[in-house]
Amino acid sequence: MPPKIFVTRSIPETGLDLLHERLDVAVYETDRQISKPELIDRVQGMDGLLCLLSDPIDAEVIAAGSQLRCISTYAVGYNNIDLDAATSRGIAITNTPGVLTEATADIAFALMISAARRIVESDAWLRRGNFEGWAPKLFLGHDLTGKTLGIIGAGRIGQALARKAAAAFNMRVLYHNRSRDNTFEAEQNAVYTDLDTLLRDADVVSLHVPLSQETHHMIDARAFETMRPHAILINTARGPVVDERAMIDALRTNRIFAAGLDVYEEEPAVPDELIALPNAILLPHIGSASIETRNKMAEMAARNLIDVLEGREPPHRVI
Ligand code: NAP
Ligand code: GLV
Ligand code: GLV
Repeated sequence: MPPKIFVTRSIPETGLDLLHERLDVAVYETDRQISKPELIDRVQGMDGLLCLLSDPIDAEVIAAGSQLRCISTYAVGYNNIDLDAATSRGIAITNTPGVLTEATADIAFALMISAARRIVESDAWLRRGNFEGWAPKLFLGHDLTGKTLGIIGAGRIGQALARKAAAAFNMRVLYHNRSRDNTFEAEQNAVYTDLDTLLRDADVVSLHVPLSQETHHMIDARAFETMRPHAILINTARGPVVDERAMIDALRTNRIFAAGLDVYEEEPAVPDELIALPNAILLPHIGSASIETRNKMAEMAARNLIDVLEGREPPHRVI
């Protein structure tokens, strides 16, 4: 009998086809976010779980899945999974790093240009019938060429953004991690700084840290006070890395110039005050959402699960 697995939402066929070849697969039937009670119900008796970043895989869900041997998340971030609960039950956790790096860095790059040149705001303004001709001071933004990009969390995605920004706009790169990366410094002329120096000196601050106790509200009211008045904040990491209330205040009072966001503190909720702000660009968590990338993620998430359940080392395991 093949191992039994539950998939919490339909993913691309590149992954589902692989799973169906080797495993006894049940996929959540409706194309919407599964509720926690349903998840607790469906995980019972399963050997493996393929989940999304929006599924709360907490101690309760893990306890309900008492036969689970592997939880494969269709994402690189795994802050939604209780690692201690999984470890104590000997469950392997796998994720999909690398294959989504360029797509996510591209979304950060797009947000950076769009925020600097007010692209979304001016498009909406034209569609409302306001365009009456070229004007000397219409939608003035900021140049990016030669400016300073501060990367907080210069790992795979942060470094990919740094490379794109340096190549396209000759941007100077500052970065802040817990540890220095000599190769990145040598190859990109990247300069390591403490967090305050980066916030004080960068024209664009882009967040790429995983969400953890250490990074929760890393960008708070004090950080917004430290940033330059023309600075742009880009967040494609996780919403709770930023204190959303403090960000709304900073944007409303023009304490910073603009924000480009793909993630929110209480996803999928986005505060009305944020929606009302013209200097915020708001994307619905689509960092990795290209067809090519999602196909690769689906394949990797499937291979991870199959390999663990068949006793092999998977392409990528977290624990
Ligand atoms: P990664 O390669 O692990 O990079 C994370 C970087 O953050 C590392 O350089 C790490 O360096 C640094 N870091 C970790 N904790 C830190 C701390 N407390 N203070 C300062 N720096 C810290 O991860 P990745 O593949 O680039 O992905 C990064 C995150 O992006 C994911 O965790 C996920 O949440 C998010 N993401 C979002 C989307 C989207 O759709 N918007 C898509 C993909 C990923 P040190 O270890 O030296 O500190
Ligand atoms: C997306 O947010 C991911 O972590 O893959
Ligand atoms: C603008 O369209 C210009 O020609 O400068």
